[in-house]
Amino acid sequence: MKKIFKTLPAIFLLSSLLFIQCKNTDKNEGSAAENEQAEGTRDNRGMHISESDFGKTSEGEAVTKYTITNSAGLEMSVINYGGIITSLKIPNKNGEYQDVVLGLDSVSQYETAGTYFGAIIGRFGNRIANASFELDGKKYQLEANDGPNSLHGGNKGFDKVIWNVEPRAGEDEASLKLTYTSKDGEGGYPGNLETTVTYTINSNNELDIKYEATTDQKTVVNLTQHSYFNLSGDFSKTILDHVVQIDADEYLPVDKTLIPTGKLEPVEGTPFDFREPTPISDGMKQEESNEQLKRGPGFDHCWVLNDQDNGMRLAASAYEPTSGRFMEVYTTEPALQFYIGNFLDGSLPAKGGGNYEKRTGFCMETQHYPDSPNQEQFPSVVLEPGDTYTSETAYKFSVK
Ligand code: BGC
Repeated sequence: MKKIFKTLPAIFLLSSLLFIQCKNTDKNEGSAAENEQAEGTRDNRGMHISESDFGKTSEGEAVTKYTITNSAGLEMSVINYGGIITSLKIPNKNGEYQDVVLGLDSVSQYETAGTYFGAIIGRFGNRIANASFELDGKKYQLEANDGPNSLHGGNKGFDKVIWNVEPRAGEDEASLKLTYTSKDGEGGYPGNLETTVTYTINSNNELDIKYEATTDQKTVVNLTQHSYFNLSGDFSKTILDHVVQIDADEYLPVDKTLIPTGKLEPVEGTPFDFREPTPISDGMKQEESNEQLKRGPGFDHCWVLNDQDNGMRLAASAYEPTSGRFMEVYTTEPALQFYIGNFLDGSLPAKGGGNYEKRTGFCMETQHYPDSPNQEQFPSVVLEPGDTYTSETAYKFSVK
């Protein structure tokens, strides 16, 4: 007993010294990393990821913003709420960097906006008719959040959950690996769905997005990304002068609630023909006369992409003549929802002042066909236990 009392002060002294040593080591490592980052950013070398606070959700969860900068100066910010890309700064033809994606200033705005700006969409991107579907004779009731239909996963889809984020910065690319487990029954969907979405930026100004999911029960999955682009970098301008190309000979006409009728219609001779580069405004000239454009109202349709068996291929592009910015979309997916922000109504505050008015952003959402779970003739969206859902899309930015 006595011995212990004698040795106690010595143990205390020793452990205090060790503690101070550890703290110093941490501090040194931290400042070395910071120095390296500051130097790299200044010299425009390598890839960097920084983290900052982005406030809290209404339920009190902390939201973090991750900002990736590449060696060329491209800068992308993503928050762990909805995996939302809040900003993407890329150069114009004069080398000036501007933000080209619509976004909001706070988590509470993202929680209530209803526009899905920049978000990961799941479990099911796009609409499911009458918010229900059947699998093996069993009916699954989803949340109707778009008239009678379920849109983008229901009331609390993947755009409104907190994702776990693992940042990784390498020499030539940096990535954010986002993971989320959607519980069996969430939104009405069967099976525990383990989902991974990886955003990768490389030094060639490419944003690659890889999606993966596994389930423990037969289910349906259709994941996508809902960034609204305005390549002019000026959110007070509409996107109607963007010149768009979509490699699709057919598109899916919709009913009055925007559910595909089930028919594949040739684009030939319609305003939906973007096989050659065409200004969006050209097709919109038929806004009042074309029945399908009246339904959108405007472009809000799914294009059936060509070469569906060719894996990753060029599916679409958009060019903004004033800035010279050019975006190409490569994907493994069979279809592309091209939506031109018809429902933006000037009620949301825009970055840089003003409000997001109608058609100030467009989305190119790679995906399977809307309402696939109810339309047998469409490519299958069923995921079985033991199988892995995979999907990849890359947005490549350049100038011309
Ligand atoms: C849909 C639009 C919908 C929008 C919501 C798009 O994917 O096609 O109809 O209004 O998402 O922001």
